[in-house]
Amino acid sequence: MSSAPTSYLAELVGVFGYPVAENPTGVMQEAAFAACGLNWRYLNIEVRPADLPAAVAGLRAFNMAGINLTIPHKVAIIPLLDELSPDAALMGAVNTVVRSGGKLTGHNTDGKGFLRSLREDAGFEPAGQHVVFLGAGGAARAMSVEVALAGAERITIVNRTEARALPLVALLNEHTDCRAAYVPWNGPYAVPGDAAVLVNATSIGLFPDVDAMPAVELDSIRPRLLVCDVIPNPPRTAFLQAAAARGARTLDGLGMLVGQGAIAFRMWTGVEPPIDVMRRALEEVFGG
Ligand SMILES: NC(=O)c1ccc[n+]([C@@H]2O[C@H](COP(=O)([O-])OP(=O)(O)OC[C@H]3O[C@@H](n4cnc5c(N)ncnc54)[C@H](OP(=O)(O)O)[C@@H]3O)[C@@H](O)[C@H]2O)c1
Repeated sequence: MSSAPTSYLAELVGVFGYPVAENPTGVMQEAAFAACGLNWRYLNIEVRPADLPAAVAGLRAFNMAGINLTIPHKVAIIPLLDELSPDAALMGAVNTVVRSGGKLTGHNTDGKGFLRSLREDAGFEPAGQHVVFLGAGGAARAMSVEVALAGAERITIVNRTEARALPLVALLNEHTDCRAAYVPWNGPYAVPGDAAVLVNATSIGLFPDVDAMPAVELDSIRPRLLVCDVIPNPPRTAFLQAAAARGARTLDGLGMLVGQGAIAFRMWTGVEPPIDVMRRALEEVFGG
C-alpha cells in the first residue's frame, strides 16, 4: 500500500489586479514552489476596484499567506492593511502583503528587486553615485526610494509631467540623505557626464511597442555608463540594444521582476528562493 500524504491542504498566495490575466508572476512562483517541494499555489485573481475590501476579507477568511497587488490596487490596499513596512509607507504603495499571526503587513518589493538586480546581476553598488531615472511613476518611485536609502548621493528624475515628478523629488529630498533634482523631459535628454546609472522607468518599449525608445541623446551614452530598463517584455529592449551599441553595460527588467518575486517568495515561505529556476521560468515566457 502506498503511503498517503500527511496533508492535502495547500498554502495560497497570488495577485489581485484588474486586469490581471496577462500577469506572468505565477509562472516563476509556481516553478519555485515545485523546485522547493512546497505545496503552495499562486493564483491570478481578478478583483474590480470596488471589490477590493471584500477580496481582502476573503484573503483573511481563506487564511492565505499573502498576496501581490498590481494595477489598480497598489495604493487602495493601504487602508485595508494592519501595518506597513517603513519603505512602503515612504513610497505610499504596496505590491506585496504578508500575513503573519493574523496581521496583514504591506511591503514594496519592486525597488528592492531592482536593487538586488543592480548589485547581484550587474555587480554595481549605488552608494555615493549619481543615478538618473527616466519617468516618475510607480516603478520610478519604488526604485528611486530604494536607491536613495541604499546611499546614492544624487538622483535625477527626468519626466514629461512636472506634477508627477516634483512630489517624488520632494519626498527624496525630505526623507532620504540623497540630493534629488527634476529635469523636464521635452526633447532628447543628454545624460550628464557624472551619472553612473541611467534607468528607463517608463513603459516605453513594452510589448507590443517594441521599437519605441525613450528620447535620449545616444551620443551622451558613454561606455562606463550602466543602462537599465524596467521593461521585462521583451527583456532585450531597443533602448538596451542602442545603449550596448554605444559600448555601455546593460541590465534588463527581468532581473528586477525576478528579484521582487524572489523577495516575496522568501517573505511568504521563509525558504531561500531558487533564483535561477525563477529566471528560467520567466525567460521561457518572454523568450529572454
Ligand atoms: N521589471 C519589473 O519588475 C517592473 C516592476 C514594475 C513596473 N515595471 C514596468 O515599469 C513600467 C512603468 O510602470 P509604472 O507602474 O511606473 O507606470 P506609471 O505609474 O503609469 O508611470 C509611467 C511613467 O512612464 C512615463 N511615460 C509613459 N509613456 C511615456 C512617453 N511616451 N513619453 C514620456 N514618458 C512616458 C510617464 O510619464 P508622465 O508622468 O509624463 O505621464 C510616467 O513617468 C511599466 O512598463 C511596467 O511594466 C516593471
